[in-house]
Amino acid sequence: MTQATIRRYNLLGLDGVPADELVALLDEAEGFVAAARGRETSDLLAGRVIANLFFEPSTRTRCSFTVAANRLGASTVDLTGLGSSLSKGETVLATALNLEAMGVDAIVVRSARSGTPHLIADAVACPVINAGDGRHEHPTQGLLDILTLRLRWGDFAGRTVVIVGDIANSRVARSNLYGLTPLGADVVLVGPPALVPASFTKITAGPGRVSVGHDLDEALPRADAVMTLRIQLERHGEDGGGSIPPDYRRRYGLTVDRAASLPPEVLVMHPGPINRGVEIDSEVADDPDRSVIMEQVTNGVAVRMAVLKRAVQC
Ligand code: CP
Repeated sequence: MTQATIRRYNLLGLDGVPADELVALLDEAEGFVAAARGRETSDLLAGRVIANLFFEPSTRTRCSFTVAANRLGASTVDLTGLGSSLSKGETVLATALNLEAMGVDAIVVRSARSGTPHLIADAVACPVINAGDGRHEHPTQGLLDILTLRLRWGDFAGRTVVIVGDIANSRVARSNLYGLTPLGADVVLVGPPALVPASFTKITAGPGRVSVGHDLDEALPRADAVMTLRIQLERHGEDGGGSIPPDYRRRYGLTVDRAASLPPEVLVMHPGPINRGVEIDSEVADDPDRSVIMEQVTNGVAVRMAVLKRAVQC
């Protein structure tokens, strides 16, 4: 699974995707930004059908794959665990095989289990796109974050992205590491020691460097962008238990006071959903001058248009 990469028909992860391939995808996505804003449509995928299998809750990813498919002229079938025969005991793999038998042109899948998209990709002939699998990867989120930064910065040389939060349980952090470091950005991972293992420094494709720290105030002066992440309580233990440490906001929250200490050009990001007043204050998340959170959402449609086009037209 660690070798998962973009192959001819599949986008299973950003791990192993070379810089030139990332740049080609980002270039293609950039060409779809006007369409993502609703200003253009296309019939590139007219008559094609995309299956969205979302076995874990989603707002942004699920809706933006649908919007992206529609803007390309494709239609979608949407399936969740509830209301499908998964609730009668049918397996995810059998579900995917049935969709393939209906002739869908691509399968987009989100699952709480790491490796589900790979399992499906090994069994079906149509393209498979990972829309987030457990703690493993969320490649289109990584690409949309990187596109958002590239649209602001042009390139990544000399840039540092501070990612703060529950890194250990974050597929978003992993996909950003696999995507940002080959493009030359340095990444600083910050959070409580239990949520930011030192082993994450090994997740780099270079030339960008990865470092780990546990003091946000020490890390912030290096930041060109700060990406705040939610604590993923649903991935803390078998029963989804656990709780947010009582001093979490004080130590790791991007509060109004902390944001005020940053130079005005430092960007603020969050993949959503946001726990306002925990990892980021509302005033910071909604700051029209430095928050690019809604740009991330718009660029998600552009990235997913590029990925669907590439997958289906291959
Ligand atoms: N960023 C993200 O994956 O959001 P959703 O869970 O709403 O899709």
